[in-house]
Amino acid sequence: MFEFIYSVGQFISILLVVIWGLAIYSTNGLIYASTKKGQRIWKGVILFSIRSGLVLNFAWISSIITMGVMLGWLFIEDKVFVFLPLILFPSIMVMVWTMPIFSQIKAIKEGDKEVVSLFRKIAASPRFSFPIKTMQLGAVLILGLSIFGSGVLPEGIDLFLFFVVFGLLVCFLFFLQKRIHEKVTKEDFQKPKWMIRLIKRLAIIAVFIIGGISWITMGMERSTLPAEISMVNHDNVELGGGSMIHHNHSHHSGGHDVSVTELVDSSSAKPDRTYTLVAQKKTIQLSDGETFDAWIFNGQYPGPQLRIQKGELVEVTLINKDIEAGVTIHWHGYNVPNAMDGVAGMTQDAVQVGEQFTYRFKANDEGTYWYHSHQQSSEQVKRGLFGSFVVLSGDEEGKTNEITSIGDNWLFDGKEAIVSDGHDQGIVKKRMSTGSDVRLRLINTTNHTKTYFIEGSEFKVAAIDGQSIHKPQDLKNTKLELGAGGRYDVIFTMPDKPVLIKTSGYSQQGKTDAQLLLSQDGQGSVPLISAEMQSFKLEEYGESLQTPFDLSSDYDREFTMVLGQRFGFYDGKPNYLWTINGEVFPNTPTMMVKEGDLVKTTFVNKSFMDHPMHLHGHHMLVLSKNGKPVTGSPWWTDTLNVVPGETYEVAFLANNPGMWMDHCHNLDHAAVGMTMHLSYEGVSSPFSIGRDTLNQPE
Ligand code: C2O
Ligand code: CU
Repeated sequence: MFEFIYSVGQFISILLVVIWGLAIYSTNGLIYASTKKGQRIWKGVILFSIRSGLVLNFAWISSIITMGVMLGWLFIEDKVFVFLPLILFPSIMVMVWTMPIFSQIKAIKEGDKEVVSLFRKIAASPRFSFPIKTMQLGAVLILGLSIFGSGVLPEGIDLFLFFVVFGLLVCFLFFLQKRIHEKVTKEDFQKPKWMIRLIKRLAIIAVFIIGGISWITMGMERSTLPAEISMVNHDNVELGGGSMIHHNHSHHSGGHDVSVTELVDSSSAKPDRTYTLVAQKKTIQLSDGETFDAWIFNGQYPGPQLRIQKGELVEVTLINKDIEAGVTIHWHGYNVPNAMDGVAGMTQDAVQVGEQFTYRFKANDEGTYWYHSHQQSSEQVKRGLFGSFVVLSGDEEGKTNEITSIGDNWLFDGKEAIVSDGHDQGIVKKRMSTGSDVRLRLINTTNHTKTYFIEGSEFKVAAIDGQSIHKPQDLKNTKLELGAGGRYDVIFTMPDKPVLIKTSGYSQQGKTDAQLLLSQDGQGSVPLISAEMQSFKLEEYGESLQTPFDLSSDYDREFTMVLGQRFGFYDGKPNYLWTINGEVFPNTPTMMVKEGDLVKTTFVNKSFMDHPMHLHGHHMLVLSKNGKPVTGSPWWTDTLNVVPGETYEVAFLANNPGMWMDHCHNLDHAAVGMTMHLSYEGVSSPFSIGRDTLNQPE
């Protein structure tokens, strides 16, 4: 819906430029028309373009109103304050000045000499022409802003300056029109030679080209990332309505800054579990003979499943065998102490070839998580540097049959991995005895939303992002859409007929969907996926339960993050940008909090793609979706997929001090700047990123 209204609005703004351009063009035509036929044609075109221009203005305004009514104020805020005046004022001018003369022109009969000069006088008069030109200026600005503009309401002063510039341009147009009028109404006026007109036109085009080129070079230069910067932006700090207790260098009140490296689990206990993960290159041979240059952990694709009992102290040693760019491990969705978060350039340096790094943390939460490199992550995750991370509550182990679906692979009881990405088998068949409990751990490690279909049995969604659902109901004929980075735990009891689990989504060319068939004897026919599958509605699933905070709580800080798109530049190259509040990293805002703050964030997606927003180190409670409170089970998430046109309010308790990333988990978006940070006051980092460092977190 959002995409539709938005595209309609966009299309109308293109038409506006064309139609008001035509109005100007035909006015010029009438000024110079010497034959009756010419007069008739230009008159007709003027009448047509002005009339339809006004209709289109109205249509454009209606599209904005519709969007506001259907999706909410945040979707049109910038349109109302920036775009609307650009159309409204000129429209009024056209109506009060141009239109009365319009009917005058209509009444004049085509004719010779006298009529020619009469038409000329009227058509060139500022009262007639100037409003039309202003209208065209407004239309061009609207189109330009909707392609290159930030998509958010500019700060007060910027908005003011914008209208000052607009006002100056309008004045310029007015005086220009006066001069034109004086010139063409002179007794001895001669239609200028075509050469002169051509030169004038070329000059105007040249001005635009020069302007365009300087805009591009300036944009490229300004977008070039500095050779070395701190990841957290200290220039665009948002306090979300809260305050800062101490400033970096003020007095002694706030104590000294804590370095992220100090934020560790300080117990000296012996770890309950130790693992070694060796990052290495390996060429994987697929059964159809194709090869894939993978970068993987311990020679496995995907990396080994780490299975841990809740409460255990875990130690994982990462060794980089031969990944030149360096690697790290980030525990996606798991709330570890900040120093263990694995973000190259913020919580550690990327581990270079031959080096190692030990992660140590206590497994306090059970559930389904995953780990992946957070160095050059958009490339390294695609190549295979990831695996699943499962924390068990103790009594589950051995009782249920676990199947993990990670990427396009199946993993049974955490062991045997079957790559079923279509290059290999189209369908994987496994034995599962009737009556046994099955737990599917669905992990979307890709960059795009995936859909999972389960046919042949009713099922329950037991957990989302590792967090259990309170009293989940049975589901059937329901497809599960899972945003990038997210997880679902699905449970069911194996019936006496086959069950098909199928994933589909953004599959690469030549690949088919991953399918798994479970049956008593490991054979059997594949049930058909029913055509009428409804979407899973998380916001009303399960039963509600008291939560530590809700919509009525008092929040210490409130942030609004508008996810948008525009053309622009990133690191010196022209690019299609995915923005947060109109900006890309490193200009995106930093949300500043202090320990103990209750924080509310509103996410609004005004772009055309899904943005799975992933906050490190914290679970967010979803409070409302599209303005409606969540009515089902408490919905805790670490990767919230915000679909175009959606608005979410989420909240979290700031109880894990450090510097944390908050970014889109379409890692290709993150790689072109769709990242921001949550920073606790008084925390600093000795690490940095940029060309002169070895850290490239995205
Ligand atoms: Cu799964 Cu910042 O990452
Ligand atoms: Cu995104």
